[in-house]
Amino acid sequence: MSKSKNVWKDFFKDKKHGGHRYSSEEFLSMEAREKLFHLEGGRTLLDFGCGAAELLTYYAPEYEQLLGVDFSESMLKEASKRIEKKKCQNIDLLLADHETLWDNLHFNFDRITAAGVIQYLTFQEIDKFISDASKHLNKDGKIVLFDILDSRLYPLWKIGLFSQNTNGLRILCKTGFEFRTAVSARLKNSPKDILGFAHNPYTIEKIANKHGFKMICVRSMYYEYKYHTIMFRT
Ligand SMILES: C[S@@+](CC[C@H](N)C(=O)[O-])C[C@H]1O[C@@H](n2cnc3c(N)ncnc32)[C@H](O)[C@@H]1O
Repeated sequence: MSKSKNVWKDFFKDKKHGGHRYSSEEFLSMEAREKLFHLEGGRTLLDFGCGAAELLTYYAPEYEQLLGVDFSESMLKEASKRIEKKKCQNIDLLLADHETLWDNLHFNFDRITAAGVIQYLTFQEIDKFISDASKHLNKDGKIVLFDILDSRLYPLWKIGLFSQNTNGLRILCKTGFEFRTAVSARLKNSPKDILGFAHNPYTIEKIANKHGFKMICVRSMYYEYKYHTIMFRT
């Protein structure tokens, strides 16, 4: 699949939240705490695809300066409201995508992160993203990509293998339905569902290594079919 950008820009143009499993502040704060553990410090942070700043506002107390970037105006409008409500004076917002972002940066960052965003980029776009990000990373900086759909587990989750009330017949029906959806999407050359592309962690690691990073891969605590990658230079 090669046409990602416009499909997704269109999809997110009127969205107002990041689609977390639960929208309660209690859940968002727990999710953010898990992510802060993996971000492991730093003073400045860029959050690519920040959405409505549902996580970014929880990162704010831990950083001196933060920049949230998103290509959706509606998301940034929500982010702005949330930032004001939570009185986070150290967050700036920028309307940009994975291509236009880099020319608009005025300084480098200790952490460049993205949560639930990389699945909207193709492997070629991820390659370019890591290359560009590496040029805007301070010494000892990290690129931390959260909640990537695991191409090995996501199909199993989709057919209901992780659900509580599952049985053989249900799995068979869901498998048939998913197969039909996948074939139809391929014929139309369109994404097969709204969650984006599932990526194999080994391919992401190859991209990281190509740009001089080592990569650690860990399971997401709150989404059984997602993983996080932590990229750092040795
Ligand atoms: C699933 S939401 C996650 C939002 C946020 N990271 C969170 O966890 O709450 C994905 C976000 O990425 C943004 N996005 C997707 N592809 C993008 C791109 N190429 N450039 C900029 N933003 C992008 C969307 O507009 C959306 O706000």
